[in-house]
Amino acid sequence: MGDNDAQISKQNAAAIATRPLWGRGRARCLVVDDESSAIEVVRATLASWDVEVVGASSGREALEMIAQETPDCVILDIMMPAMDGFDVCKKIKERWSDEHIPVVMLTALTGRRERVRAWDVGADDFLQKPIQPMELVARLRSSLVSRELNQKLAEKVQALEVVEKSRVQELRHLTEFLTFADRSLWYFDPNRRDDEAHCQMLLQQLIQRGPKDVTRPAVVLMATKMEQGGYQGFLYTRDGAEIRRYLGPLTITKKRASVLFPPDGEVVYANQNTMGQDDVLSYRFDRFIRRAVGPMQNYVSCALDTVGVVAFNYGSEVGGFAAHLLRSFVLHSSVLRRLANQAHETEEAFVVAIETLARASEANDEDTANHLTRVNEYSRVLALALGCSEEFVRQIHYSAQMHDVGKIHVPREILRKPGRLTDDEWASMIEHPVYGARILGEAPALAMAREIALCHHEKYDGSGYPRGLKEMQIPLSARIVSVADVYDALRSSRPYKEEFTHEKSIDIILNGDGRVEPSHFDPDVLAVFQVRQDEFKRIYAEFRDAPSRLQAAPLEKQANG
Ligand SMILES: [Fe+2]
Ligand SMILES: [Fe+2]
Repeated sequence: MGDNDAQISKQNAAAIATRPLWGRGRARCLVVDDESSAIEVVRATLASWDVEVVGASSGREALEMIAQETPDCVILDIMMPAMDGFDVCKKIKERWSDEHIPVVMLTALTGRRERVRAWDVGADDFLQKPIQPMELVARLRSSLVSRELNQKLAEKVQALEVVEKSRVQELRHLTEFLTFADRSLWYFDPNRRDDEAHCQMLLQQLIQRGPKDVTRPAVVLMATKMEQGGYQGFLYTRDGAEIRRYLGPLTITKKRASVLFPPDGEVVYANQNTMGQDDVLSYRFDRFIRRAVGPMQNYVSCALDTVGVVAFNYGSEVGGFAAHLLRSFVLHSSVLRRLANQAHETEEAFVVAIETLARASEANDEDTANHLTRVNEYSRVLALALGCSEEFVRQIHYSAQMHDVGKIHVPREILRKPGRLTDDEWASMIEHPVYGARILGEAPALAMAREIALCHHEKYDGSGYPRGLKEMQIPLSARIVSVADVYDALRSSRPYKEEFTHEKSIDIILNGDGRVEPSHFDPDVLAVFQVRQDEFKRIYAEFRDAPSRLQAAPLEKQANG
């Protein structure tokens, strides 16, 4: 080429230097070859295109340059000392896998095996030596386009993964909620009167477990509708594994409740960006709630029946899904609460009925209604002290009073006879445990009352009636009631005896007096009786017979129980 030709060529190059190679601005192309002349050939070939050509004379240098600034494509010679093109290509694809840098490998025409190996290490395309300008431009252009497509695809995949992740989380949340629904039904015990424990069990599933738990709220207001309208409730949040009640009781007036809660069974939700700064927030929530919740991001509110719940500050924007879940939560809480209330009402009715039965049976007896109440109370003290289960304690507390229910079949003259009974009279008297068991029947709720009625005159040493059972043959409930019953009989005045002091009664039970002997009683029950005797004294004093107290007793008992 002559000087003039070279001059013209340079001018042409300058005139068309801004020609874009691929319509996305200037491309940066790294050419790696140990022969600098090869780099210059590429540079000259691309001089008329908007391409920045940078050269590296070794694989190591190329990797360093890529680390500094990512090129849009790499043209890579295979035959190089130290690190050949295959190694360099492999390293580029490994280290910058997210960048999708296209690698075009320079191969000899005949290099079929080289091509296969190049595919293996991730090469994107091939250029044959000697380089043809049109081919180089075409290959580069397609590499750049393919890189862009790869990047777009990667972004789409990533976006899909994000969507997928939140879907998966919602699904997991839903599954957990269903498991929770099953579990709360399974563990639901209508006899447990501890509403707070129940409420916390439910909230355990609703309140978020950590910053990543974006589908759950951080703070929950759980309120109960009051009879006179309005609500009363507490704010709850998580403290480690525990649910903590941290503000309340908050009284929500009827007027404010109508703003805070949507109509029965409906759900409302709002996010900060749609709520406006001071607008709805300050209007809906009083300053105690605002101060306790802190900066309010969003909330979901729902009320149903007697339960009102507002969930604040979910980790992400709230929508239909959060609303749906909160409604399920409220529905669930409301149904369980209603079930618990019904169970309590049924139980109260049951207790009232058996109290009435117990009292009716005592009409002919010398005992009084307060004797029954006291025996209930003593038995409860003994059962608690013996470490009996909550359920056992609950049952003995209402079953003990049924011990003499069978006396309804024993003639009044025998029950009230001041002197010794004849053999026939005694035979009739000792039938009362069997009558009692028969009256109480087979109902499961009366099973303990039945065994108490049947066995409260059995004695630990086997000298009792009606069956002469001994020791562990006698049910624990009856072993407890027999101590309670004898203590109370000793304290009371009867047609055939004066009332004894607490101290004398204790002495008779623990040391015997010829009629009552310590061997009659379970030694374990006697041991706790001795330890808890002050409570017996207190109970006797509290429920001491006085005509005016007879009517008041059941109400007091309910209030205490
Ligand atoms: Fe009896
Ligand atoms: Fe009795």
